[in-house]
Parts: sequence; structure tokens; C-alpha cells
Amino acid sequence: LSNNRFFIESPQNFCNTGRAFMPIFPASDENLRHAAKRLQNGELVAFPTETVYGLGAHARDEAAVAQIFAAKGRPATNPLIVHVHNLEAAREIGNWNERAQRLAQRFWPGALTLVLPKKPAIPSNVSAGLETVGVRVPAHPVALKLLEIAQIPVAAPSANRSNHISPTRAHHVENSLGEEIWILDGGPCEIGIESTVLDLSGETPTILRLGGVSQTEIEAEIGPVRVQTHDEAAQNSGAKSPGMSRKHYAPRAKVHVFNTPIDAIFHAMALGWGEKVGVLSLIETEIAGVQDAVSVVMPNDAPSYAARFYDALHQLDDAGCALILIEDVPLSREWNAVRDRILRAAA
Ligand code: TXA
Ligand code: MG
Repeated sequence: LSNNRFFIESPQNFCNTGRAFMPIFPASDENLRHAAKRLQNGELVAFPTETVYGLGAHARDEAAVAQIFAAKGRPATNPLIVHVHNLEAAREIGNWNERAQRLAQRFWPGALTLVLPKKPAIPSNVSAGLETVGVRVPAHPVALKLLEIAQIPVAAPSANRSNHISPTRAHHVENSLGEEIWILDGGPCEIGIESTVLDLSGETPTILRLGGVSQTEIEAEIGPVRVQTHDEAAQNSGAKSPGMSRKHYAPRAKVHVFNTPIDAIFHAMALGWGEKVGVLSLIETEIAGVQDAVSVVMPNDAPSYAARFYDALHQLDDAGCALILIEDVPLSREWNAVRDRILRAAA
């Protein structure tokens, strides 16, 4: 038994499920120091970021990094993002260029991951054997403090089992990865979808994954960027952007995207009797009476929607829904990252 269990400070650690102990720790100074020690020792720590919770390991420790892949059931071909506490530390991870400099100054700490040529100090399992590496400075105060105390780069994918929904709350991590994972609790994630991944290693800056920082914001800083299409991503999997397959952020339930209530009702009716249906919509969509339905009305601005999206999917999954019906969102640029996640959930 490690002494971490004596750091419990909040009744949150004692749950009502009959177990005396949950692996979730409030982000007190003491627990942060303990988490930093764990990372330095090559152990895993799940921690909050402003996007989603990450599952971290010492990025220069090949064996520690290998544990991440094992815990997630993640294919070794899918590279990890390295998290550091400032720009100076980031320069030791990847080879810098002018665009990177401008973007880092503008958006860090924040939800932008820069893909740059990898420096040799980072073991190749971090980047799945690629010549490049993703790096970002997260904005969540708990993540920043942890990185500052630990003084090491931390490789961290989202803290979920491979191909499942990313966690935006501490208990999502436990539900997905189990009780063995040591989790720092920093409350719900403010952005709620993952960082934007921008490849700056080639001639044309290319967004490999839409996310917390928009294409418009990036272009305002460095001019036109390309967005990799899903088809390209599929063709490239294992090469330029592994882990970008569409089937990547899916709940357990079947997911269908609908445009009209009639469409939603048809899909609900095709389900067997007694099966539960979840509905995520921008306005109340009445399909109750047709089926046993759980309805979540989502905020109608894109950032608030994003902040709530994974949490709502977790909620409907946990409620035992066999089918989740998601109302399509507006076809404008500001909704692109959210639509991307909706389509992945439905893929
Ligand atoms: O917001 C986020 O980015 C969260 C938090 C924890 O920081 N992390 C996250 O990590 O979403 P993960 O591993 O679930 O997704 C990282 C994505 C993967 O799709 C991976 O393929 C891509 O970033 N990526 C990482 N390094 C790359 C590289 N060198 N080249 C191309 N793509 C890379
Ligand atoms: Mg992920």
C-alpha cells in the first residue's frame, strides 16, 4: 500500500458504492506533489486539462510510456502528445520554427498541439516511431502546476480506453480505465473536446485534428492552413496522422445523427421494444411515447456545446441507451470541431 492513501482530504474519495476507496484525489498541494513524484518514478497519473483528462507518464522514460499504451489498449502506431509547462521546455521536445513561435506565443497555454520534428531525447514509442512529435502547454491550472512541480515532459493521451469517449470528469476516467489508475480531480473540463492538432513539420501547415482552437484563429496568426480530410486521415493511418480514424471517439451505444424529429422517430421505432433511446438535441425533441427515452437539451453555442458533449454521451451510455440520436448542428465554421466529434461518434 503506497502512502498516497493518507493524502485523502475530501469525502469525495469515499463513495457510496460500498468500496472504501476510490482512486480519485482532489488536486490539493500535497496530492499534486505526490502525483509529480509518481510521474518522476515512471508511474502513471491521470490529470485534468482544459480539453479532456490525460493519462500521463514521464515522456523521456520509455518503459513508463509503454504503460500508457498497455493501460489504454492503444495501438503502438498512434503517437502521444507531450505536455510541458512552458515554451522553453517545449523547445527541448521538438525543433522550433517561426510559425511555431508565433502560435505558441498566441495560444499557449491552451488547446493547440504543435507537431514538429522530434528531438532525440524523446523516445520513439512516444511518437509511434514517427520523425515528428506533438507538443502542447495545457492551460488547466492543475495540469500546469503538476508539470511545474515535476519538471519533466509528460506524454499524455486522453485518459480513456482506446476508441472510447474521452473523459471530461474524473469519474469518466475511472469508468473507462478502472480503479488501478491514480486520478487527480480538477473538476469538469472547460473546453470539453480535445486540442487542435496542427502539423508544422511540412511546407503547408495542416490541421490533423480540429479542436479547441479554431482554424480561423490559427489563420489570423499564420495565414492559410489546410485541414486534413477524413479520407486522407484514413489513408494515412499509420503514417502522417495515425489515430485519426473516424471510429475513434465512439460511445458503446449505436449513434445516429438526425436532421428532423421525424427522422429521429423513425430510427427510434426501428429499435426493439424496451430498448432505451438517448436524444441529444438543440431543442427539445419529443420522441417519448415512442420509446423509453432520455433527452438532453444541449446549449446552442458551439463552445458551450463542446464543453457538454462528451459528458452527455457518457451520461447516456451509463443510462444504458442502446441508441443515441444526435441532432445535427449548424453548418458553420465555428461548429466544425463539434461536428467532427459528432461524426466520429456516429462512425
Ligand atoms: O486535448 C488533447 O489533445 C488531449 C489532452 C490530454 O492534452 N490529448 C489527446 O491525446 O487528445 P490523444 O492521444 O487522445 O490524441 C492525440 C492525437 C492522436 O490522434 C495522434 O494521432 C495525434 O494527436 N498526434 C500526436 N502526435 C502526432 C504526430 N507526431 N504526428 C501526427 N499526429 C500526432
Ligand atoms: Mg484520445
